Amino acid sequence: MGSVSKHAYNIHDLREAARRRLPKGLFEFVDRGSEDEVSLRENRAALARIGLKPRTLVNVSQRPQQITLFGRPQAMPIAVAPTGAAGILWHEGEIALARAAAAAGLPYALATGSMTSMERLAKEVPGRLWFQLYMYADRSLSHSLARRAAALGYEALLVTVDCAVFSNREYNFRNGFTIPVSFTPRNIWDAATHPRWFASVLARYALTTGLPLYANYPEEVKKRIHAQPLGRALPLNDSLTWEDVRVLRELWPGKLILKGVLHPGDAVTAARNGVDGVIVSNHGGRALDGTRAPIEVLPDFVDAVGDRITVIADSGFRRGADVVKALALGADAVLAGRGMLYGVAADGEAGAARALAIYREEIDRVLALLGVPGVSALDRDCLILPEAMRRQPGGDPPTLILREGFRPQRTP
Ligand SMILES: Cc1cc2nc3c(=O)[nH]c(=O)nc-3n(C[C@H](O)[C@H](O)[C@H](O)COP(=O)(O)O)c2cc1C
Repeated sequence: MGSVSKHAYNIHDLREAARRRLPKGLFEFVDRGSEDEVSLRENRAALARIGLKPRTLVNVSQRPQQITLFGRPQAMPIAVAPTGAAGILWHEGEIALARAAAAAGLPYALATGSMTSMERLAKEVPGRLWFQLYMYADRSLSHSLARRAAALGYEALLVTVDCAVFSNREYNFRNGFTIPVSFTPRNIWDAATHPRWFASVLARYALTTGLPLYANYPEEVKKRIHAQPLGRALPLNDSLTWEDVRVLRELWPGKLILKGVLHPGDAVTAARNGVDGVIVSNHGGRALDGTRAPIEVLPDFVDAVGDRITVIADSGFRRGADVVKALALGADAVLAGRGMLYGVAADGEAGAARALAIYREEIDRVLALLGVPGVSALDRDCLILPEAMRRQPGGDPPTLILREGFRPQRTP
């Protein structure tokens, strides 16, 4: 473990180490949200509003964190979120993240926009691999990506459905940090004044394989990250419908997961269409600003579909206590996004491993202090919910009656 990781006592320390190492434009690209960043702040604030209600005099000398996710056992209730940026935070950052996840026995989701190809990753890392798919307007391009991932044995396909268009992140324009990456006096200066990152990432690529490629893009649209214009290569699609999900269900033999749902009605439709899981997410506050925090709507999802499909949550999870709260509300697992990116940006694979160790240690300590002998014993009675998340006993669910016979669980 590098000294950076050794001296990181929590995810906030890893964030601070990443902030020091990365050019400002790149750090803000990772760290910030969209527009007024209401959702970004709410993700943390909503988690903080949920109180913990400890029991005492419980034997908590054993506190297993094992869960079964999509039928497979894993050591702790976390999977590593897909993030297109890892390969520019650290040289071959996706491989570093995937190795750290594999060493901890956890799934790693490779993003469509990664700098490491799905073929290379499958060769380098023997762990559980998922592939995140963005849908191109030309569907056949995305279908070819899914077929490649299937042929390589990727376990799950995460179809991201909350980015019909690019979201609005004005600071990226101010920083000259746009996609495709362009070279402006401002960002050249920014890079030059962060020599550790410049030498170990950008210069290393330039001197070896050349500036990074969007390595997963289909051959006909594959581009380097600074190629102008990206045009057809941009994996964006504002005409995606449930018909596309049905086609993917036919095409994809493994677990099919929709990433970025915030309305429980969408989860019900997903379950009806053979989808295996949903990720309740606002993209870490990077997509539509003003959405409620996933943790607040999570109970609606668990009540509506939790007995039929897997429900995973993400957005804002920086502490073990945050993970514990999601599990107590009925989530099957949590995706860690920025927490892992701060780790890999600070110290590569060691930093990513440190991030996972921090989550594990914090979950363990919270379980002990909460009087809960393992994650499988968590339930809503461990929590004190804020007014906005409480249901009236016997009252209607806060959103809608989702299916016949559906009644929300009473929450304290
Ligand atoms: C820098 C960055 C890049 C991301 N890239 C993708 C992506 O390519 N595809 C995707 O589905 N989600 C992407 N996400 C969203 C994450 O998968 C995840 O939903 C989010 O980071 C969770 O919130 P958290 O960062 O607060 O943990 C990205 C997030 C960040 C911070």
